Order: sequence, then structure tokens, then C-alpha cells
Amino acid sequence: MTREKKTIIITGASSGLGAALAAKYSQKGHRLFLLARSKERLDAVAKICIANGAEAYVLSVDVTNSAEMEKQLNEIAYQYGIDIVIACAGVSAGTLDGPETASQVRKIFATNVNGVINTVLPVIPHMIERRSGNVVIVSSMAGFLGLSSAPSYSASKGAVRLLSEALRGYLRVWGIYVTTVIPGYVKTPMTSVNSFPMPFMTTAEEAAEKIVNAVEKNKDVVAFPFGMQFCIKLLTMLPSFIFTWINSKLPGKPAFEKDNNL
Ligand SMILES: NC(=O)c1ccc[n+]([C@@H]2O[C@H](COP(=O)([O-])OP(=O)(O)OC[C@H]3O[C@@H](n4cnc5c(N)ncnc54)[C@H](OP(=O)(O)O)[C@@H]3O)[C@@H](O)[C@H]2O)c1
Repeated sequence: MTREKKTIIITGASSGLGAALAAKYSQKGHRLFLLARSKERLDAVAKICIANGAEAYVLSVDVTNSAEMEKQLNEIAYQYGIDIVIACAGVSAGTLDGPETASQVRKIFATNVNGVINTVLPVIPHMIERRSGNVVIVSSMAGFLGLSSAPSYSASKGAVRLLSEALRGYLRVWGIYVTTVIPGYVKTPMTSVNSFPMPFMTTAEEAAEKIVNAVEKNKDVVAFPFGMQFCIKLLTMLPSFIFTWINSKLPGKPAFEKDNNL
């Protein structure tokens, strides 16, 4: 149990990295609001968090629903104040089954970009009022390059990386810290659909530990693992024609299974 009980919102908490973050924060006895669409999976994560000594509440909300997000976040802010908000919910798809469809691209942007906006913007005025808070935005190494294997995913992660960088500068004057999370491959349901090699893969628990430590230190950016960061840096320094050749050889990520239902 920490000396100070913090109120923490985690989106995408029903699975993978978000669930690992919830488990990690729960060991410190904080008050957690776990948000995603699947109530059943959230309940299972909340049970683990409570067993670890945390207060944990489940919010079954779609991050693309801006009105509902605003309502829920305002209620929490008025009742408890919000110390940390982590925008982790995300979806991925790609070109394995052919070019991305418009509906896939819209869904990726709605979740990965608008979902982050719907998570972070309602909380900011409350944090400004309190002159404190940590905003954590989960981007990706894929946000440094337009990857042919996952075009709209790369673009969405690049957008939130820049958004977080801009917010960091803008919010610092009010004592609010913005941490950009830039993971390489993490072993979660999102990557379990990939059939290509995923070098330097980390576990969700390792990733969560790095993120929690970085937020505790109010770090600007937490990027990992080093090997993947180094490779991406090299790729960004290549002349365009060489990078394009490499990019044209990348294996695609699978598309959403039920794209016709989107
Ligand atoms: N795994 C990696 O290698 C990797 C690398 C870099 C960055 N990331 C990023 O890390 C974050 C977490 O990914 P992950 O690997 O943990 O994937 P994951 O296991 O598939 O988890 C994704 C989470 O997002 C939630 N989510 C998706 N759409 C949502 C919506 N519309 N509303 C509310 N919640 C929604 C899912 O919950 P429900 O389905 O219950 O809604 C789930 O909890 C994502 O932003 C991802 O882009 C992952």
C-alpha cells in the first residue's frame, strides 16, 4: 500500500497491456477505474486488482462514444479527482488480406485517435484546476514510420504521438505531466494474430513495469525495448528509396475478422 491513494483511469484495461497496467497499479493499493467494452473481461481484471489490495471499478464503455466518456470521466473527477489517466485502448489491422477498407481505416482512427481524445480531453480541465496530474498516451514504434503492413495503424499511432508531445508542452505550465508510451512488440492478444517474426518482443508485465516507473518519475517518453528503438531509428534515417524498398517487403497484419459488420 502506498502512502497516497491515487485515482487512476485505464482504458483498454480488459486485455493485454491495459490489464497488466491495472495489475501493476493494483499492487500499490490505488483506486482504479478500468474501462473497455467487455464487462466480462473487465470483471476478471477487477477481481485480480481487488485481490491485490486495490479499489477497482469497472466501466463498460466504448472509447469512441464521446458523450458517454465525458459523462463517466466528469463523474469520477468530481467525486475523487483524477491523478492519472492512461489512454491505452487500441485496435490494429493491416494489409495481409488486401488493401485496408475504408471501414477498417475509420474504425482504427475512431478508436486509436478519437478514443484517445475522448479519454484525455475531458480530464484536462479537472487537472488544470488541481494544478496536477499525469496523462499517459500509448503510441507505438509503428507511429514513427508509415508501415505498409499496417497503414492506418501507423498513422493513428503517429497522430497520438504528436498529440501527446504537443500536450506535454502546453500542459507543463499547470504542473501536468504527459508521458508518451512507445512500445515495440508486446506479447498480447493484439500481436497473437501476427504470423511474422516479432523481434525483441516483451511481455505485457515487463512493459507495464516500465510504464509505471516512467509515470512515477514524470518522464516525457518511455520507449522500449532498446533493440527495436534502435532499428526504427536506423530505418527513419535511410534514404526514402531504400526505406520504400524495405517497406514494400513487409508482411501484412491480418484485417479485422468481421470487417463487413463495421
Ligand atoms: N501489443 C503490441 O505489440 C503493442 C505495441 C505497441 C503499442 N501497442 C498499443 O498498446 C495498446 C494496448 O494494446 P494490447 O496489445 O494490449 O492489445 P489488446 O490486448 O488487443 O487490448 C486492446 C484493449 O483495447 C480495448 N479496446 C479496443 N477497442 C475499444 C473501444 N472501442 N472502446 C474501449 N476499449 C477498446 C480492448 O477492450 P474491449 O475489446 O473489451 O473493448 C482491450 O482492452 C494499444 O493502444 C496498442 O496499439 C501494442
